Amino acid sequence: MDIFRSGTSLRSHLLKLRNEGKNCIGFVPTMGALHNGHMELVRRSKAECDVTVVSVFVNPTQFNDASDLDKYPRTLPSDIELLLQEHTEVLFAPDYNDVYGDDYEERKLPDLAQLENTVEGALRPGHFKGVAQVVLRLFELVSPDKAYFGQKDYQQILVIKHLIYSFSLPIELIMVPIVREANGLAMSSRNTRLPENSRKKAGFIYRNLLQLQQLVHEIPIQKALNIIRKQLSEQEGATVEYLIAVDADTLKEINSLDEANAVIALVVVRYYEVRLLDNICLKQEEK
Ligand code: PAF
Repeated sequence: MDIFRSGTSLRSHLLKLRNEGKNCIGFVPTMGALHNGHMELVRRSKAECDVTVVSVFVNPTQFNDASDLDKYPRTLPSDIELLLQEHTEVLFAPDYNDVYGDDYEERKLPDLAQLENTVEGALRPGHFKGVAQVVLRLFELVSPDKAYFGQKDYQQILVIKHLIYSFSLPIELIMVPIVREANGLAMSSRNTRLPENSRKKAGFIYRNLLQLQQLVHEIPIQKALNIIRKQLSEQEGATVEYLIAVDADTLKEINSLDEANAVIALVVVRYYEVRLLDNICLKQEEK
């Protein structure tokens, strides 16, 4: 695996690979603390592209809470181990100055409109602007053909789709389904912050989402959401920050499945001080 810190050396390496006929560059942006969810993105990219570039960069501009940034796990040596096991070709592990140093020209971001200020964005002001800023910068440095993101951060995917569309970037965004632990807990770097015992029990979130997926076909959607919200908050140690059903394209809240072509339920449960995000499709777009 070739490891680069600077954007300039990364770019010249990727140019060389393109000249050698490696036409499809797949990109998996991460903040490190890699787990099987990330590795699934890497496996998809490796199956579909000639070269896979993974970036590991804990981007300060997307943290609205300084202590969250401090607490974010930094595990580069074990990340490298995992990437080697998957035969990843390129790792880009820049420092702050390699990303936002002298040669960085900040571009005006498109208006993210309601994507920025609703749901997760309403609770984390500035978060999605920070994500859009760093992803745009990483796209500039890597120039990928395909970029892989996990469905767990669903709102982030919509923000990046909007970014790609607004700048007409020639990048295909691939959303990879959520990878779950054996009990159903969505994989996340935050899961390691849960005490072992609570982590084992945290499958209750997914079990409730599966029940919701059934219930919305039997009773009105708001009633179904109320039942599941109550069940989630009855779990010891759990507080529901939100559980809502939204139009999967616009994130507008809906009151009936007929109001949108595709509907997704988004949830955040704070479980023993750890914010756990998850989502489930309630209605799929007809092809
Ligand atoms: O999902 C993440 O890990 C981050 O938000 C991303 C996309 C790598 C940008 O920092």
